[in-house]
Amino acid sequence: MPEKPLKICLVSAELSPLAKTGGLADVSAALATFLGNQGHDIRVLIPFYSAIDAAALDITPVQFLQNRSIQIGNHQLSYSIDTTTLPGKSLNVYLLRCPELYDRPGIYTDGSDEHLRFILLSRVAIEMCQHMGFAPDIFHCHDWHTALVPLYLQTHYAWDQLFEQTKTVLTIHNIGYQGIFSAGVLHDMGMQDLAEKLHREDLALGRINFLKTGLLYADLLTTVSPTYAREILGPAYGMGLQDLLQQRQDSLVGILNGVDIDEWNPEQDPLIPFPYSARRISGKKKNKLALMKELELDSSDDMPLLGMVSRLTEQKGIELIQKVVPTLLQHRRFALAVLGSGEPRYERFFNRLQQRHRDRVCFYRGFNNKLAHQIEAGSDMFVMPSRFEPCGLNQMYSLRYGTVPIVRRTGGLADSVQLFEPGSGTGTGIVFNDFSASALDWALNAALDLYQDKKSWRKLVQNGMARDYSWERQGQIYVDLFRQILLTGNRT
Ligand code: ADP
Ligand code: GLC
Repeated sequence: MPEKPLKICLVSAELSPLAKTGGLADVSAALATFLGNQGHDIRVLIPFYSAIDAAALDITPVQFLQNRSIQIGNHQLSYSIDTTTLPGKSLNVYLLRCPELYDRPGIYTDGSDEHLRFILLSRVAIEMCQHMGFAPDIFHCHDWHTALVPLYLQTHYAWDQLFEQTKTVLTIHNIGYQGIFSAGVLHDMGMQDLAEKLHREDLALGRINFLKTGLLYADLLTTVSPTYAREILGPAYGMGLQDLLQQRQDSLVGILNGVDIDEWNPEQDPLIPFPYSARRISGKKKNKLALMKELELDSSDDMPLLGMVSRLTEQKGIELIQKVVPTLLQHRRFALAVLGSGEPRYERFFNRLQQRHRDRVCFYRGFNNKLAHQIEAGSDMFVMPSRFEPCGLNQMYSLRYGTVPIVRRTGGLADSVQLFEPGSGTGTGIVFNDFSASALDWALNAALDLYQDKKSWRKLVQNGMARDYSWERQGQIYVDLFRQILLTGNRT
């Protein structure tokens, strides 16, 4: 007998392509789409940021969810919920409209009411289910922004029998962002009379940590790769949460992210000029030449092209690039295409590098999805020297696009890329261990040497393109876990 479809409420701060700063958006959208396509009843809620291009969407107000009011601390807020279909998908999405909180230039802010923006999202996710009479089997929360849902279900909404059977899952995409606020937000959280529910030592120190609160109360914790699930149990990667994670180790599972193969498919990618596949790989070279022309890079004599698409933050190991690439450019022939934005010191570095090597370095500062696809398609190799990387998506996009990933062996990079061994012809990329300039230097030189060995390079590219990291596989792991916790209350 087929199993009963699950009822899932997925709540997230980002959803691709509507609101995206990084991989959280890709994962929320692709996982929700997978679950919907599998026949599960999935209700997705995200904020209606003013950055969402409403004119490009077909938006319908949900009649019974207009001009609702909610008391958050001293703030009497009014919100409405609209609905739309995710572009290019069949997924229905709910948009939480509250201009007072979400009409800001970006998705995240450093405003003094940042906590309020995500308390509202978390509470409205629960209240939306109440108004719909929707009893979710699973509340699936993502990162600190929605990590308060489990606590609210056990406090403010504990009276509601609708949620009697509901289990909560919190997925950690990045433990580097925890949502730490001064204890002054206690009132806005509505927890002033329930302070004993919060982490006592943090409170004594005058702060409240949203992610930590989620770790205390969610039924199941997941993170986005098996290696990262192990790494965050220790002080080097746990960012202060390792002790708590160790206590909850039995409820913590690492599931590697998948790739949205409709969006990232070199055979049918409307954002690249020349579609190609593993069997018809010649199109890749055409994409490379078109990209290099567009970026005004020297493409003579089969110049190898190294790509990079990244948030420019400490996490991504840009300091290793700073230490290695300027010298390497003097000694070796290759070109570099970088797309990203972030910390000014890194942006300045890439700007200077571009000025110094105008024919071999191009830095595009900003966020540009089309160019991201073109860099994946046009580059020969792609570098991710991350200090830590919960999963990382670009290395998996690279594999699909026949672009050899050069990665540090950490988190999801370690789980998705294997070092190529020319002797046996096995492996999918270049992998280095230490977070050091010499290790990255070795890796880049190894890749450039291997590029000259055309037979090995072809094999390496084909190995990568044969890998299957689709959501068809990875999404099923979530479904199995959801079913397990519903049956047994825990994952074993
Ligand atoms: P993270 O979530 O830590 O930023 P991931 O590798 O998981 O890292 O995901 C990053 C996602 O954001 C990828 O889809 C990548 O293509 C995209 N991305 C990052 N920076 C840019 C940019 N400047 N322009 C377009 N896409 C970007
Ligand atoms: C985070 C991580 C990244 C991961 C993404 C999606 O932003 O930094 O490694 O791939 O979330 O899970």
